[in-house]
Amino acid sequence: MDFSMKRRTLLKVIVLGDSGVGKTSLMNQYVYNKFNQQYKATIGADFVTKELQIDDKLVTLQIWDTAGQERFQSLGSAFYRGADCCVIVFDVNIQRSFETLSNWREEFLKQADPSDPESFPFIVIGNKIDLDGGNSRVVPEKKARDWCVSRGNIPYFETSAKEDYNVDEAFLCVAKTAV
Ligand code: GTP
Repeated sequence: MDFSMKRRTLLKVIVLGDSGVGKTSLMNQYVYNKFNQQYKATIGADFVTKELQIDDKLVTLQIWDTAGQERFQSLGSAFYRGADCCVIVFDVNIQRSFETLSNWREEFLKQADPSDPESFPFIVIGNKIDLDGGNSRVVPEKKARDWCVSRGNIPYFETSAKEDYNVDEAFLCVAKTAV
């Protein structure tokens, strides 16, 4: 018997948030170390996988990138089912993208219908902190953190997909929800 066999876990992760906040960019940076300045709307949803090792456990993240644009969201519920973790992204430079966090969270819980909604693992990402050297930021870090704390202490990360800042850390936190 091979005692070095690692325990494997597959984690289905759904990435949500308004159109243009950087969902695809965060995934591309995390999985392929690439950033594209040009915007190309995601249509429907697609997934990429990434394997990582945490202690003696191999975790495969199956990360589902979804469309932020409403007209592409009719397929929503089919992708949410069976999710193990949900990442909600907003743009720290756009107030509205922060205000819709609650809608995304509620919609996810409604559609995914997890057995224990109270303890379902969410992670929130405030992206594009690099923009204009931080001068165009409108959502203060504290406000975002308070929002997360008041909803059962959701982990919060500030990132730049463009500059590859804090992206690995955010997804490591996602993976750790499996350990
Ligand atoms: P939808 O597919 O419509 O849901 O959009 P999305 O959330 O996937 O956004 P996407 O990753 O396509 O990024 C939208 C635009 O923002 C693109 O032009 C990206 O280059 C840009 N962008 C994404 N992340 C960052 C970032 O961290 N900093 C800056 N400056 N621009 C970013």
